[in-house]
Amino acid sequence: MRRSILTIAGILVATTSLFASADAEKIFDNKCAVCHIKTIPTDRSSMVGPALFGVMKHVKMAYPNREDAVDFMVDYVQNPSKEKAICMPQKIAYFGLMPSQKGLITPKELKKVSEWMFDNYPPENFRGRGGMGCAQSCSTFVDFDLNKDGVIVKAELLSVRADKQAKRAAQGFPMRNAANAPAFKTIDADGDGKVTQKEFTDFQINRKSSRMNSNMSRGMGRMQNLSTFADFDLNKDGVIAKDELLSVRADKQAKRAAQGFPMRNAANAPAFETIDADGDGKVTQKEFNQLRTQIMQQKFNNN
Ligand code: HEC
Repeated sequence: MRRSILTIAGILVATTSLFASADAEKIFDNKCAVCHIKTIPTDRSSMVGPALFGVMKHVKMAYPNREDAVDFMVDYVQNPSKEKAICMPQKIAYFGLMPSQKGLITPKELKKVSEWMFDNYPPENFRGRGGMGCAQSCSTFVDFDLNKDGVIVKAELLSVRADKQAKRAAQGFPMRNAANAPAFKTIDADGDGKVTQKEFTDFQINRKSSRMNSNMSRGMGRMQNLSTFADFDLNKDGVIAKDELLSVRADKQAKRAAQGFPMRNAANAPAFETIDADGDGKVTQKEFNQLRTQIMQQKFNNN
């Protein structure tokens, strides 16, 4: 008798949590899935928000602990802001900030959904595509800005890095990346001793393109080798003129042709006028980065 009561109780508990999870998914389908699709996107042009697995990959990178992640999501969905957003400035540039869902979902529902998201995404077999997502260890601007004064100074950079290395070491990871970490002065583009959010983002974008390049040369990437700003700025005057753009592109096409690649991408390359956002006939590093962000977005979007 006693045993069967226990069994019944057990079944009840099991089914209730099963229902809870189905419920949570239903809430997600109703309130979040319009913008966050649950599958790996095939047609990105119709997407209005990042895919669910990509969102959760980033959330978990910033908040590996379930409770912290859920707290973050519950707050973010009601009060989204650029400052709080985790690790994907290009996503925000591309999609815009998520509209607050306050009033559209109750805090209780939101907590349930967030827990469900954490427990089920990204699916176990999911692996980010190389290059675009932040690596496991990607830190955000906010992580480095320890005293929250809106800039990163050298001491902050070093201290956060040392901390991260110590954690990695404690988890038994080799220290292999320490020497590869970029120097402070490389990130501090204007050399004033402070890294602003903009310098930080520009740096990350550049680094991502060069990582994609090296993935490419290892034969892993599917996309065309990306040239950097410096590659295009042939006369090194700090801006790219139209003839520089065309000449570097022609050169690259010729090399590709020589290697037996088809010329298929020639027509897809953005026009100089598109890159030169302010139409002054010169492409600055900033204009270049903006377009690069968009292109990366289109190609690698979903994680
Ligand atoms: C109208 C479209 C839309 C809806 C509806 C929507 N989102 Fe979003 N969400 C976005 C966009 C766009 C982003 C990426 C920009 C950003 O992070 O603000 C985003 C980002 C997020 C992020 C990542 C936050 C970060 O730090 O960048 C989470 C978590 C999230 N959404 C959860 C939800 C949940 C949960 C729901 C349902 C209750 C939901 N969203 C409904 C558009 C939407």
